Amino acid sequence: MQNSSARTPSRSRTTMTEYVLPTHANALGNVFGGQILAWMDIGAAICAQRHCSTIAVTAGIDNLAFEQPIQVGHVVRIDAWVTATFRTSIEVAVIVYGENPISTEEWVCVRAFLSFVAVDDAGHPVAVPALVLETEEERQQEQEAHERRAYRLHQRQHNRHRLTSSQRS
Ligand SMILES: CC(C)(COP(=O)(O)OP(=O)(O)OC[C@H]1O[C@@H](n2cnc3c(N)ncnc32)[C@H](O)[C@@H]1OP(=O)(O)O)[C@@H](O)C(=O)NCCC(=O)NCCS
Repeated sequence: MQNSSARTPSRSRTTMTEYVLPTHANALGNVFGGQILAWMDIGAAICAQRHCSTIAVTAGIDNLAFEQPIQVGHVVRIDAWVTATFRTSIEVAVIVYGENPISTEEWVCVRAFLSFVAVDDAGHPVAVPALVLETEEERQQEQEAHERRAYRLHQRQHNRHRLTSSQRS
């Protein structure tokens, strides 16, 4: 059974801002990829939990590539929104922007899709509220999310089989 009240993407859309300190950076002064991932995961989790009104755990992160670095002294802006809901899972799109706070120049650092599963206090998956789509762009993104989900679940089975097989040899 689906969780009762349907919700729009704008209701849960989340923006998170971070300032890059030397402790976040490598020897070149660029933020570590793992640090960016951690911020993405937090921003997306806040968005997922706002939509679901339950704890939502990260089930997976689709392939991602770091397009541009972000340096010490720059600002990181995370923009996260729900693109589609399924039975107990949802897809959240995230774009990470770098910003030079002096010049206000802004660029895309990374984009990714994360899957979250709504869970109860015992960690068991529970139904999520449906998504109410208001714009043509949102409808397009939802359609694409269904295609990504089919690929993702196929890969999940494939990877499980592959790793199980390699462990035996
Ligand atoms: C994610 C988790 C709850 C799924 O539990 P499960 O017993 O495998 O549950 P199911 O197979 O019934 O799948 C439940 C939902 O998760 C989705 N799911 C499971 N693995 C997934 C993956 N790798 N990517 C995307 N969705 C996934 C399923 O498609 C299903 O969605 P649906 O109900 O909308 O169709 C469980 O694997 C888990 O707790 N993993 C650890 C999560 C975690 O610790 N994250 C990091 C810290 S937050």
